[in-house]
Amino acid sequence: MENIMDQAYSADDFRRQGHALIDMLADYLEKTTSGAGKTIDWKPPGDQLAYWQLGSLQPLTQPLALFQEAIERSIHLHSPRYMGHQTTPPLPVTVLSSAVSALLNQGQAVYEMGMVGNSLEKIMSEYLAQTLGFGKEASGIMTSGGSLGNLTALLAARAAVSNVWNEGHQEGQRWAVLVSEEAHYCIDRATRIMGLGTEGIIKVPVNERYQMRTDLLEPYYQQVRAEGKQVLCVVGCACTTSTGSYDDLEAIAAFCQKYNLWFHVDGAHGAPAAFSPQYKHLVKGIEQADSVVVDYHKMMMTPSLSTAVIFKRGSNSYKTFAQRAQYLWAEQPGEEEWYNGGKRTLECTKNMSILNVYTILCTYGEEIFKENIERLYGLATTFSAQVRANPAFELAYEPECNIVCFRYRTDGDPNRLNQQIRQLLLEEGDFFIVQTTLKGQTYLRVSLMNPLTTERELQELLETIEQKAAFLQAPPA
Ligand SMILES: Cc1ncc(COP(=O)(O)O)c(C=O)c1O
Repeated sequence: MENIMDQAYSADDFRRQGHALIDMLADYLEKTTSGAGKTIDWKPPGDQLAYWQLGSLQPLTQPLALFQEAIERSIHLHSPRYMGHQTTPPLPVTVLSSAVSALLNQGQAVYEMGMVGNSLEKIMSEYLAQTLGFGKEASGIMTSGGSLGNLTALLAARAAVSNVWNEGHQEGQRWAVLVSEEAHYCIDRATRIMGLGTEGIIKVPVNERYQMRTDLLEPYYQQVRAEGKQVLCVVGCACTTSTGSYDDLEAIAAFCQKYNLWFHVDGAHGAPAAFSPQYKHLVKGIEQADSVVVDYHKMMMTPSLSTAVIFKRGSNSYKTFAQRAQYLWAEQPGEEEWYNGGKRTLECTKNMSILNVYTILCTYGEEIFKENIERLYGLATTFSAQVRANPAFELAYEPECNIVCFRYRTDGDPNRLNQQIRQLLLEEGDFFIVQTTLKGQTYLRVSLMNPLTTERELQELLETIEQKAAFLQAPPA
């Protein structure tokens, strides 16, 4: 038998399996985008675990059988009836660029281990910064995900006003972050990781459209100061996760300017609205932020994880992790070397995910980012009009982007009924939508992530929900 290493690295085997895999993935794409088959074949976690347990599977000499099983047992984001969480159906070309990154496995922390990736991160960060309206000083870095991106930005905010990095927390020094009560939980988590504790995360109430009540910033700020805490930064949402609501970034920027506070925008989902002349008004004021997080893997058709952290003054990003690692960087820790990515991120080894975004831009031009936003936000307008036109349903609020919360009306318990509807949809698997709780009430929630979804699937979703509601409310026979 051939040596196992020679076999495992065989270019011939790779070529054969690779060709077959591309055929398999192309067939999958064709089927899924056409809407054939279920969106999810839901199975209880225990069943799924049991299936994959080592030892219960037939030994596989061909990875393709394993891949086929993984495909069938996964949720299908390319289905036009996928309307669930905020994960994009990636463009097929990014599957090819991902394969290149995977094989090259460039570590990125030091220049030699990421000559291409570090260059692309600089180019793409500056490109994105300009799209958001920043000036020439702006720059950024990539992190693996928005949660890490937000933590990185908050650490930069702290580094701008304190030396906790070297001196640790000082006796009596207490910090706080002001953020909308509807912000993604990763902001809360980031502040706790930074040692601010429960008292350090100040949640500002939202208005009826789930946007931060910026009129409350002043009294909340004064209260925090009166309690002896120092405000580290104010975080604006562009937009919130549950409802897709955009905070008034201009008002937050003005407030931050008044008190000289760091202004961070969590634009993980909604900052790419800046690509569209029709929707860019939603992020007005973002260009005044000190830092912004944008997930390419949410609204920019890129596989996970792929997040940009943009700094208005690029130099700020060098202060956050000022540390010497002799075996990596010979130079002084403070030096601004864009080409040694590890100096500016928590991560040492990091995926070259930026190649995916760069490939999209080079292949299709920035028009595709604009088109994606306009299609998806437009679909939400269409869907909310359908909901409004149907007396069986109610909208939770007027949507601003591609996230819509709505529910089936009933004289009974609407929370219970809508939860049951969602569970039935999940188990049946034709449509995938989620649910959320707003002001203690359960709503069904769609995130229109697939630009191949049409008005027809939206109408079919409402019809299917009506059928489920009728079934659930039918008197027992
Ligand atoms: C507004 C917002 N911020 C941050 C995150 C976290 O991003 P990630 O899942 O990339 O860590 C999410 C995820 O849904 C989000 O919606």
